[in-house]
Amino acid sequence: MVHKILDLYPNLTYLSEDKLDLSNFTAVAIPVLPGEKIELSKTKFLTAVSNFTKLNLNIELNNWPEFIAKPGEIIEVPISVGSLTRIYLVGIGDESDDDLRKASTALGRKVKGTNCVLLSALSTEKEKVITQGVAFILSNYQYSLKSEQKEKKPTFVIYGDYEDEVEYVEILASSVWQARNLIHTPSNIKNPEWLAKQATAMVSDAKNSDLSITVKSGRALKEFGGLLAVGNSSPNPGPRLIEVSYAPKGSSNWPHVVLVGKGITFDTGGVSLKRPYETMIGMKSDMAGAAAVLCATVAMSKVKPKVKVTALLMAAENALSGTSQRPSDVIKHFGGTTVEVLNTDAEGRLVLADGLAYADLELEPDYLVDVATLTGAATLGLGRQYAAMYTREKAVAKKLYEVGSKVGEKVWHMPLVDDYSVALASDVADFNHLADKFGFSAGSVTAALFLEKFVGDRNWVHLDIAGTGRSEVDTGENIKGGTGFGVRLLIEWLGSF
Ligand code: BES
Ligand code: MN
Ligand code: ZN
Repeated sequence: MVHKILDLYPNLTYLSEDKLDLSNFTAVAIPVLPGEKIELSKTKFLTAVSNFTKLNLNIELNNWPEFIAKPGEIIEVPISVGSLTRIYLVGIGDESDDDLRKASTALGRKVKGTNCVLLSALSTEKEKVITQGVAFILSNYQYSLKSEQKEKKPTFVIYGDYEDEVEYVEILASSVWQARNLIHTPSNIKNPEWLAKQATAMVSDAKNSDLSITVKSGRALKEFGGLLAVGNSSPNPGPRLIEVSYAPKGSSNWPHVVLVGKGITFDTGGVSLKRPYETMIGMKSDMAGAAAVLCATVAMSKVKPKVKVTALLMAAENALSGTSQRPSDVIKHFGGTTVEVLNTDAEGRLVLADGLAYADLELEPDYLVDVATLTGAATLGLGRQYAAMYTREKAVAKKLYEVGSKVGEKVWHMPLVDDYSVALASDVADFNHLADKFGFSAGSVTAALFLEKFVGDRNWVHLDIAGTGRSEVDTGENIKGGTGFGVRLLIEWLGSF
């Protein structure tokens, strides 16, 4: 079955101030700041719009006394002057990244699914122009396999000389978009082999010799006991280890970051079947970590930072079948550590353990970062706005916190509580793979403690994105389903090396 995905990715460009000609647009957006008396700032742009439309927009504003210019609040002024049909007066709050994101997504949603050509003067600061552009594009995301599709999409023109910024917006937004497409793809289409093919196509489409890819399957995976134990539940086509590298000429002495992504293409729970069964429906998103590390790594060929990056996508399906693993099985991970499997629904840490150990023992990473939709407990603790970040490296934690706040993918530093690690003791193996003793209820913490057993002495960061990787509602930058969380965070962080 061939599916055509609707491509609603908006057009994006900029317009130098000296080229301003309002007759080319169907809509314009003007920022409004909150305050005692709400009034439009007297800018050249406002003057141009007023002259073109013969409207006093402050009088329009006064018609809406309940409008307080909170971020994302919009007054829509209908007009008809040439091709111009709308003026959007957009509340931008305190102009923080968060507020501008709200404003831009509200604006993006206003014109989603239309052919509107929108000129926006919402922000004049370079960094904020990036926030604005990315938010606008992402709010237009759609994933549709409907047999009849409307292909209308808006054109977004940022007012000002922002060539470099627009280029960077395209890198960030298109990478998140690509990750979302992978995550939204249903699991009757997506399996580990499919994911490997998509990754291969992305690398070859980049047409850049800094990128390379290798895919391990079958006998090449014989030492990866966790990946095999999970992935062999679905023998056809079986698990894959997809390794994508960004390593430009002359990079051998650069720092090396290895990213490990959980790539479970569907999580039924296995023999320990997920209950209630409805919780399974979202589990096509269980490869969101793999999608994030893949799309961020491919983006490196455009960002061109001085850091080597290797992404390891641990791809497997956690199916219920005659070849599923059993609770009480003992498996051997890459590097030889043995683990007793108690609940086959805690499959993510099993595939990650192999990836982390492989990175530690074979790849000499300076930083080792894993990204995974790992535990429902992370969602209980932090909700869906913050990812749970575990690391002993305070400086990295601080940096990721700052980067995350800026790009709108927030992380919260969580404790690796050493006292809880006794709960991982097993009678028959080196470890249990989950905490079944003493009633520890910190499921996200104990999962992180398990992963830490496989990272050796590396500078390691674990991002549990179970809450942030998927949205349950259609709002702001997200639609219901995969968010692409982690892509912007990683691109921005790696770009800062
Ligand atoms: N993929 C799930 C975690 C998850 C839950 C992601 C909800 C997104 C939303 C993971 O494989 C899982 O099943 N974890 C179990 C672990 C438990 C059995 C120790 C969980 O969180 O319930
Ligand atoms: Mn699971
Ligand atoms: Zn899972």
